[in-house]
Amino acid sequence: MDKPLPDLTTRIAGLTLPNPVMTASGTFGYGGEFRDLVDLGRLGAIIVKGLSLQPAEGNPPPRIVETPCGMLNAIGLENIGIDAFRATRLKFLRKLETPIIVNIYGQREQDYVALAEIIEDEPDIAAIEVNISCPNVKAGGIAFGVDARAAADLTRQIRNCTTKPLILKLSPNVTDITVIARAVEAEGADAVSLINTLTGMAIDIGSRRPKLANITGGLSGPAIRPVAVRMVWQVANAVDIPVIGIGGIMSGRDALEFLIAGASAIQVGTANFVNPGVTMAIIDDLCDFMRTRDIMQLSDLVGSLVLPS
Ligand SMILES: Cc1cc2nc3c(=O)[nH]c(=O)nc-3n(C[C@H](O)[C@H](O)[C@H](O)COP(=O)(O)O)c2cc1C
Repeated sequence: MDKPLPDLTTRIAGLTLPNPVMTASGTFGYGGEFRDLVDLGRLGAIIVKGLSLQPAEGNPPPRIVETPCGMLNAIGLENIGIDAFRATRLKFLRKLETPIIVNIYGQREQDYVALAEIIEDEPDIAAIEVNISCPNVKAGGIAFGVDARAAADLTRQIRNCTTKPLILKLSPNVTDITVIARAVEAEGADAVSLINTLTGMAIDIGSRRPKLANITGGLSGPAIRPVAVRMVWQVANAVDIPVIGIGGIMSGRDALEFLIAGASAIQVGTANFVNPGVTMAIIDDLCDFMRTRDIMQLSDLVGSLVLPS
């Protein structure tokens, strides 16, 4: 007799997701672009490209470079803006059963607050993910996400204007990520997702020029996975809210590392560029892994790391 299917549902920030596999912001467009490549209805959640109040063109090219086991990007958060997103892309997305999570960014606290207020009125947006790896104009261009007080202030202001589940997306470009995680938890974040990209740089030795027009960029892909797993483990041990793991997940095995480290869900980013259907394979792999080991609930895996005695 066939074994019963394991229960992959997971709870994040008050949402019940059918499985823990989400798409990472900026690597899956606005969702609809993947409709012929992925069964969007099977995803745990869709997280769309980071949106700002106004449309943004992003940085000049070249803005992507391949690196060993990863890539550097300096897209510069190009996007169509929240109004165009609501008027065009959301029409398609709201027909799906899959929870839609909108990723937002700004350069001033008021930008984030205004975005959250707009989203508050959209019943079809399930949650907000806040990208705090952005330059804070008031603090002289230092990212909100590298300063615990700035991250806390921002979280409080957004929390005050939304009842939607709030996920704070943490930057790994800090000395101790648990300090930032605790700071946003204290101000009402419902969950944290990590990691965003690690700042990197590549040089063309012939011309001696940076390979990216922006000089530096964000490193993603399998190259960052061990750093991400370590940070997820640290944060999962430091906070009581759910943790969403991100960083170089290419397969079900990779996703399992994050779940065992303490993540209640995961996001798949750069892997979508290599294989647009990879999220489906990851869901199948997780299911197979649990089935063959008689693990019936995903929650039995989460945080099940066995430490050396
Ligand atoms: C091309 C590209 C664009 C991205 N755009 C965004 C974005 O708009 N907002 C955001 O929060 N993260 C953005 N990210 C970061 C990813 O969501 C993710 O955190 C990071 O790439 C690490 O995951 P990965 O190794 O699976 O790609 C982007 C990453 C890439 C590669």
